Amino acid sequence: MRQCNRSGTLVAMTATWSPETWHAHVAQQQPEWPDQTEVADVLSQISKLPPLVFAGEARDLTEQLGEVAQGKAFLLQAGDCAESFDSFSAAGIRDRLKVILQMAVVLTYSGGLPVVKVGRIAGQFAKPRSSNTETIDGVELPSFRGHIVNAPSFDGSARKPEPQRLMQAYNQSASTLNLLRAFTKGGFANLAQVHAWNQEFVAASPQGKRYQQLADGIEAALRFMNSCGIDAEDDPRLDGVNFYTSHEALLLGYEQALTRQDSLTGDWYDCSAHMVWIGERTRQLDGAHVEFLRGVHNPIGCKVGPTATTADVIGLCEALNPDQIPGRLTFISRMGADNVTEKLTPLLEAVNESGHPVVWACDPMHGNTFTSDTGRKTRHFDAICREVEGFFAAHDAAGTWAGGIHIELTGEDVTECLGGSDELNHDDLEARYETICDPRLNGRQSIDLAFRVAEQLQR
Ligand code: PEP
Ligand code: CO
Repeated sequence: MRQCNRSGTLVAMTATWSPETWHAHVAQQQPEWPDQTEVADVLSQISKLPPLVFAGEARDLTEQLGEVAQGKAFLLQAGDCAESFDSFSAAGIRDRLKVILQMAVVLTYSGGLPVVKVGRIAGQFAKPRSSNTETIDGVELPSFRGHIVNAPSFDGSARKPEPQRLMQAYNQSASTLNLLRAFTKGGFANLAQVHAWNQEFVAASPQGKRYQQLADGIEAALRFMNSCGIDAEDDPRLDGVNFYTSHEALLLGYEQALTRQDSLTGDWYDCSAHMVWIGERTRQLDGAHVEFLRGVHNPIGCKVGPTATTADVIGLCEALNPDQIPGRLTFISRMGADNVTEKLTPLLEAVNESGHPVVWACDPMHGNTFTSDTGRKTRHFDAICREVEGFFAAHDAAGTWAGGIHIELTGEDVTECLGGSDELNHDDLEARYETICDPRLNGRQSIDLAFRVAEQLQR
C-alpha cells in the first residue's frame, strides 16, 4: 500500500508490520551471498539462539534518550567503525570502554549533565560501501563489507561472502557483551576508579594531565562525601554505569533473525543491540531499512547527511516515530565541517516546528574523510572539532538542543586521524594504522575532543 504523509511525500507503507515485511521493499547494500541456502540455514540457526539484549533494557535506553530529547542529558555514542574478528581481545574491549568512561566523566563533570553512554560495539560489523566491487590493476573483486560478510585482503577467496561469518559475529557480540556487562557492573566502572581509566600513553599528554586534574577533583568530592557518611564505593549509583550497545542495522536478514517478541508487552524488539541505526546510504523512505526499523520498539538512529531535505527528515519522523515518543528517534547528523551550519539549521527548524521530539547527535567523522597523500583514508582532528562547533552553532541559531556526539574511536595508541596535540602528520599515519575500515581517534585525541565538547556545553 502506498500512502501520502502529512508533508505530501509518497511513502510505501505496508498496513501491518512483521519482522518479514521489509522483504517487499528494496534493500540497499546487501551482500551478494553466493549460496542462498547456506545463508538461510545460518540465519535459521541464529533465530533460535538467545537474544543478546532484553526488551526492558532497550526501553530503559529509550527513556534515557527521552531525557536527552528534552535537553536534560547528553548522548555519547562511540566505538569502532568496524569491529574486527582478528584483533578481538579482552584488553581491546577494556581499553575502548576506558576511553568512553573517561570521555563521559569529562562531559558530566564539565558539562554538568547526565551522559547517556552507548558503544558502537558488540555487533558493529557490517559496512555499507560506495561501490559493490573494487578494481585494482584490472582485477575486479567484491568490496569488503565488514568481517560479518568477508575479509579485507584483496584476493578472491577473502572477498567471497561467507555465511558462517554471521554466526561468528553473533558469537563475538555475545562474548563482547558479556565482558562489557562484567566491566560496567563488576566494580571496574566504579567512580572511585576514575584515575585507573587513564592509560599510560594518555596520562603523559597535556589532555591526560588535564583529565588527571579533573579526576583529582572527583576523588576529593568522593572523600568529602565519605566523611559525610555516604559510602561512594558501595552506592549502586556510583558503583556501576549503564552502558548500552549499538550498531548500524545493515544486514536485515541478521537483524530479523534476532528480532523477538517481548513477552511482557507483546512488542517486537531487535535484540541484536539496545539501539540500532539506519545509515546514510539506506535511509530511503520506501526502502527496506526504514520498513524494518519502523516496527521494532528499540530506540533507533538515522544518519542524516548533506543531501537530506526537510521533507526527508519530516518523512523519517513520521515513518519511524509516528507516536512521537521522546527518545525513540535520534538523528545523527554528518554534514562535514564546511557544510554543517548551513545544511543542518533548516532541518533543525523544520523538525522543531513539526513538534516531533528527536535527539540530535553530531557525527563529526563521516563528513570529513579524505585520502591522504600516502593513500590512507584519514580525517583531520581540526575538521572534527570544527564540525562539532558548527553543530552547536546551528542549534544555537535554531533554538534546539545539541543532544550528543557520535564518534569513531579506539582505546589504543593508533595513528589514523591527523592532527591533535601530537600534531600527527601524513607520514605518521604509517606508524600504527590498524583500522579495517574508517580512521578512528586514538585515546589522546578522544579525551581532547571530550574537553572541547564540554567547552561547547558550558557556553
Ligand atoms: C558509519 O557510521 O560507519 C557509516 C558508514 O556512516 P554513514 O552511514 O554516516 O556513512
Ligand atoms: Co565509519
